Amino acid sequence: MSVTYQAIGWNRAKKVYDGVLVSGLALYLGVFIGVGAIVHPNATLETLLIRGMGTAALLLLHIILAIGPLCRLDKRFLPLLYNRRHLGVTMFVLALAHGVFSLIQFHALGDVNPLISLFASNMRYGSIADFPFQVLGFFALLILFMMAATSHDFWLNTLSAPVWKRLHMMVYLAYGLLIAHVALGVLQSETSSVLAAVVGVGMTVVIVLHIAAGTVEWRKDNFVAACEIDAIPENRACVVSCGSERVAVFKYGGMISAISNVCQHQNGPLGEGKIIDGCITCPWHGYQYLPDTGASPPPFTEKVATYRTKIVGQLVYVDPQPLPPGTRVPPTEIP
Ligand code: HEM
Ligand code: FES
Repeated sequence: MSVTYQAIGWNRAKKVYDGVLVSGLALYLGVFIGVGAIVHPNATLETLLIRGMGTAALLLLHIILAIGPLCRLDKRFLPLLYNRRHLGVTMFVLALAHGVFSLIQFHALGDVNPLISLFASNMRYGSIADFPFQVLGFFALLILFMMAATSHDFWLNTLSAPVWKRLHMMVYLAYGLLIAHVALGVLQSETSSVLAAVVGVGMTVVIVLHIAAGTVEWRKDNFVAACEIDAIPENRACVVSCGSERVAVFKYGGMISAISNVCQHQNGPLGEGKIIDGCITCPWHGYQYLPDTGASPPPFTEKVATYRTKIVGQLVYVDPQPLPPGTRVPPTEIP
């Protein structure tokens, strides 16, 4: 660690977060072991602990994976994101305890090193029912270890954000290995379908949230290059095709606004008109629209779709997603 390293303050929100996490886990393990002992009276405490810690770790991993997309969909989830690394490290500790207890219970009683026994005692990789599923858990645990060990800000600064991010994206590989660990392991011997249903619901939630957040991001970042700022004459437009729509991008008074190219009167080409008295004026019969809202000035009620714009360097970009007719979009200022 370098001399310039600064510890992060331990504020009240973090203490509450960790308090809720630890009490939630204690409650989960208590209920799991209590109910497990009633439903499976022959199960030993070690077995119940192994199962309780394994399921708690996998449940936490689902929560961790859901937090990212939830925050993209709704900013109210952001407080969960700030301390997500505490969840990650706690999940790793649970997974490690589960793995070590399993190694002791299933591999430490013979005369072979438990780690060698883990890899050598079952080589039936071609079988679904008898697949050596514990090996999958071992490799997932290795990834989780790497992530937990580098979770501190010190490593984020030392490794640089892109390398750290790539390393932590391996959580998805670990997740896949763990789903296979459970599907090829305990689900092969379970007679009840409850666990399979829970795993199925968990996977569906994680996948659906990622697709929904991905779609929102894709829409946000899908701006298309329209034209150079200098290529648009003052108070006039350049016209660009966005999918099946044509969009008129106007330049006026140091600002850029984009609206649909199609006039509400008789589909006249608004992009061939010009701005007169602050209004985009259709070249065919003179209908007018305000550039930022796409609405005709009162008392008229016509409205056309508006589009978001941005400027990068000398280029104007347009978001191809039309906004409902009349939606105000703040004009983009020309730097
Ligand atoms: C060295 C690594 C690991 C070993 C040797 C191992 C071993 C095992 C064994 C033997 C079982 C079956 C337990 C039983 O049927 O009683 C099991 C189940 C399970 N493991 Fe692992 N595991 C490892 C890593 C992990 C990790 C990293 C996770 C999650 C983060 C995990 C999650 C689970 C879950 C959810 C189950 C099903 C629990 C249940 O029976 O309901 N395992 N594991
Ligand atoms: S088509 Fe635009 S005013 Fe008639």
